[in-house]
Parts: sequence; C-alpha cells; structure tokens
Amino acid sequence: MCEYCGCQDIATIAELTREHDAVVAEISRIRTFVRDGDIGGAAVVARRINGILRPHTLVEERGLFPHLALEFPEHVAALQREHSEIEAVLAEAAAPVPPGPDWPRRLLEAVENLREHILKEQDGLFPAALSILDSSAWTSVEAIRAKVGSEVSSNSTPGVAHRRHGEQIHGVDADLQRTHQT
Ligand SMILES: [Fe+2]
Repeated sequence: MCEYCGCQDIATIAELTREHDAVVAEISRIRTFVRDGDIGGAAVVARRINGILRPHTLVEERGLFPHLALEFPEHVAALQREHSEIEAVLAEAAAPVPPGPDWPRRLLEAVENLREHILKEQDGLFPAALSILDSSAWTSVEAIRAKVGSEVSSNSTPGVAHRRHGEQIHGVDADLQRTHQT
C-alpha cells in the first residue's frame, strides 16, 4: 500500500495524492447536490473537479504512464480510457449546450468510477511507479508538473483518498501491486 511502500516520500506522488484527496472531497459534495436536486450546484462542483484533474491528468499521462506502459500496457491503457470517459461526463457541465436530463445519473456514475479509479492509482500505479522510475524519469515528471501547475495547495495533508491498510485490493491495482512486490 502506498502509505507503507514509501511512494509518498516522492514529492510528485505526494502532490498527485493531494489532488486525489481534493477530488474525493468534491465527489461527496456532488452526491449531496444531486440528492437535493440542485443540478446547478452539482455542475459547479463538476467544473471544479475538472479544473483539478486537468493538470493532474497531464502529469499522469505524459509523465508516469509512458514509463509504466512498458511493463503494464493493458493496465495503463485502461487507466487512460477511464480518464477520458470520466472527464467527458464532467466536461458536460461546462459545455455550451446544457446537459440532458440523464446527466445527474451519469454524473453520479462517473464520480463513483472516478473514486474507484483513484484507489487503483493509489494502490497500484503509484507503488509501481516508485519501483520503476529512476531519478532522471522523476526529473522529467517534475518538469511536466512545473509546466502545468496544480489547482491544489501544497499545504493540505495527503491521506483522505488512501485505502485503509488491510482492505482488499483487486483487479488492475492488485496485478500492479503483485508485480511490484516480486
Ligand atoms: Fe490520478
């Protein structure tokens, strides 16, 4: 688990984790807005999540994924596909044409998928990155971060998005984790 493998000691991973934490907090606000029928409020939060994810996804897709894809091509392709699918639903909140009546349901489904996606990255991708990337690779990831910035302050503490120690991991993250440990 990333709390124990040491990946949080890498500044790049700690920053990605802070962004995950911020997104997870926003997801619970979306649930509340949709439950209360406040679709305008949900749209504001969806735009905020997309603002956090824009630089975050660039760091992952241009920085981490190319290194990890050599060893885990299918896992990385699946994570990339999830990025596109989730962001497409979130982006409807900013589209010139208002989202259709089924958008709140699709939004809830997308943010639930996003929460699972974040756990896969925390439990599989980040520990695997720790074992695969060398110092020059980390420098290139940091250069991408320096270019794209972040919507999340570095003062917040990582941890909310982490799965608790002992909880079962499964699917893609379990495969990544197993390979990482061997
Ligand atoms: Fe992520």
